[in-house]
Amino acid sequence: MSQGLDTRADDGSHTGPRHVAIIMDGNGRWATQRGRPRLFGHHAGAKRVREIVESCPDVGVEYLTIFAFSTENWKRTQVEVAGLMDLFRRYIAKETRALAELGARVRFIGDRESLDAKLVKLMEKLEKATAGNSKVNLTVALNYGARDEVSRATKLLAEDVARGLLDPANVDEETVSRYLDTRVLPDPDLVIRTSGEARISNFLLWQSAYAEYEFIDTLWPDFSREEFASLCASYGERDRRFGGVKK
Ligand code: FPP
Repeated sequence: MSQGLDTRADDGSHTGPRHVAIIMDGNGRWATQRGRPRLFGHHAGAKRVREIVESCPDVGVEYLTIFAFSTENWKRTQVEVAGLMDLFRRYIAKETRALAELGARVRFIGDRESLDAKLVKLMEKLEKATAGNSKVNLTVALNYGARDEVSRATKLLAEDVARGLLDPANVDEETVSRYLDTRVLPDPDLVIRTSGEARISNFLLWQSAYAEYEFIDTLWPDFSREEFASLCASYGERDRRFGGVKK
């Protein structure tokens, strides 16, 4: 066990969250506080990602899902959007080896159709290069919006019904989950949002129906592995009932 708090109980069982999803917010404000352009904050934010991925095995987190770019983020200035896309391309090219060495399996969720072809190629290359890893599952939500995901899933499901591959009478929650971008992932146990905003912002709406939420004041570039470990440890002390009653 390296840094951070252990989330294992005395009997060795794991009490921490298996899947943590993070809305990485506050990069812009962090940069503004320093009199720097917003992209400076995004670059600082990107550096935190590796540290948090690295610390996942220490706190027993098997799945980490991070919100990198939303379907609504296109509304930002052209300079910021272009800067973020450039950051994603550089980050993926630069981090592929490090993430592979960490034993991370990387996946992307979101709509790839409107992303730059070069970026999509890098994303696919990273997914392929890390497909054999299983130490930690990193999922990056890029051009992701939960309503967009559900709309795309509904379209696919309707197409299968039209083709006679699916009987509408058999559609249940498990069927719907199979059409979502997250089909191979377990639902998040804990959703963290940094920077003091208490909103979900169209992130994993279906999947987080029973998740615990932590809204913390820290701006994303200041988020540390210690704070991550501490949030995972407090999760272990909560009493999740999934709508039922305590046993
Ligand atoms: C929100 O901060 C952050 C984003 C929209 C971008 C998140 C991207 C990163 C952390 C960069 C790298 C990620 C990867 C996977 C390489 P904000 O701009 O909304 O901050 P503000 O609310 O203070 O303006």
